[in-house]
Amino acid sequence: MASHLLLIMNKQKIEIRRPSPDQLPAFSRAISIGFGGAGTFLDEQLAHFTNIVEATYPFAAFDGDQIVGSLAYIDYETVNSKARISTAGITMVTVSPTHRRRGILSKMMPAAMAEAVERGHAMASLYASEPAIYGRFGYGVALFRERYKISRNRTALAITSKPAGEMRYKSAKDGISDAREVFEKVASTRPGWIIRSSNEWKWLGIDPEWDRNDDSELHTGIYYVNDSPEGYVNYRRTGDGRDNMRIIELVGVDRDAELALWNYCFGIDLVGEIQVGDRPVDDALPWMLQDTRALERIPQDCIWSRILDVPTVLESRAYSATGDLSIKVIDESGGYAAGTYLLSGSGDGATCVPTDKSPELTMNVAILGSITFGGTRPSVLGRSGLIDENAVGSLSKADAMFVTQKAPWNVVDF
Ligand SMILES: CC(C)(COP(=O)(O)OP(=O)(O)OC[C@H]1O[C@@H](n2cnc3c(N)ncnc32)[C@H](O)[C@@H]1OP(=O)(O)O)[C@@H](O)C(=O)NCCC(=O)NCCS
Repeated sequence: MASHLLLIMNKQKIEIRRPSPDQLPAFSRAISIGFGGAGTFLDEQLAHFTNIVEATYPFAAFDGDQIVGSLAYIDYETVNSKARISTAGITMVTVSPTHRRRGILSKMMPAAMAEAVERGHAMASLYASEPAIYGRFGYGVALFRERYKISRNRTALAITSKPAGEMRYKSAKDGISDAREVFEKVASTRPGWIIRSSNEWKWLGIDPEWDRNDDSELHTGIYYVNDSPEGYVNYRRTGDGRDNMRIIELVGVDRDAELALWNYCFGIDLVGEIQVGDRPVDDALPWMLQDTRALERIPQDCIWSRILDVPTVLESRAYSATGDLSIKVIDESGGYAAGTYLLSGSGDGATCVPTDKSPELTMNVAILGSITFGGTRPSVLGRSGLIDENAVGSLSKADAMFVTQKAPWNVVDF
């Protein structure tokens, strides 16, 4: 961190700085308390959580020697069609209940953004616990997702074709390397896909009992075609009698793989209700079911993105229509993205440079985050009053350029 930040509030001196290695257990406890826990851990739990924190760039807010705020970021890459975007994955954001609404997050976030920029990140991304928190820092909803509920007795599929390969059952640990192979194959096909780190794959395989929320151990089913892994599903049995099921991740490289994975899940006996997390908004499943009303669909925001380097982010993708578009970006929280840019895009890629041209569209940096991966059409945001169209027809042009063949999607939770 470039310099320590001092914040004088209510006669308290709050200092934002990186916790030292021996302060990481206290940092972990502060996170637990900030999220509503008691800050107490089993020894094994504290060691595991400290390992997770060690793999991040943490910031703590100190009131004297007490940690009263936490924020960390992970070095990630976000997939786009022409390049991967170096991304700070913001996580562990908490302020102690004793110190809320005194501007502590408003000091931690800029400190983290300044360091992320210095270290070359072009974007920051996060999951928001509440929608009111992050817009002020320039984050906009970039990706949406759906969660499902379905009774197993209504899961008959309309598709009769049989997958060419075979499903094999694995424990979570044994399934990791093949699941990871599938994950990497799918990455290139989905804008917004965040690449899970080696550490995170390792932790998935540990699956400690205290981290299961009373659900079963993690099970994995892998779909193989000629011994090549083409799809995986991670799931847990849930409920006291283990008579329900929660699908955590279901990822297939193509229709054949997804069909095999759904067939496998829907064929597991002694299951009443199935819950499914994190599906893309253009999922094929709703169209694969015979009973088109069986699926309870719950739409949610997924990743919020804050663009820090506009040219790098807009040049990381191909565009669905060839065109030039001048965009004015307003950025009142740090100014990293502020300016007017000329985007020249085509199916081959793009250039994006600062320009003196008068802007055809004007938007806040958070809104630029919402259109960048094709998650929301610019014209919808125009109709919402969130993009100003200064030249007639430029919203339609932006719609045609920014639309993606597949909806953006991500399954990495952080
Ligand atoms: C979210 C949280 C970190 C905010 O920390 P904080 O130090 O209280 O935030 P700040 O004082 O810097 O708030 C800055 C502004 O955001 C607003 N704000 C912050 N959290 C908010 C929330 N949850 N809902 C609505 N507004 C919120 C504040 O009112 C303030 O607005 P103002 O500038 O107009 O007065 C804290 O409330 C918290 O720990 N919540 C529980 C854990 C959590 O949800 N973490 C987020 C995980 S994604």
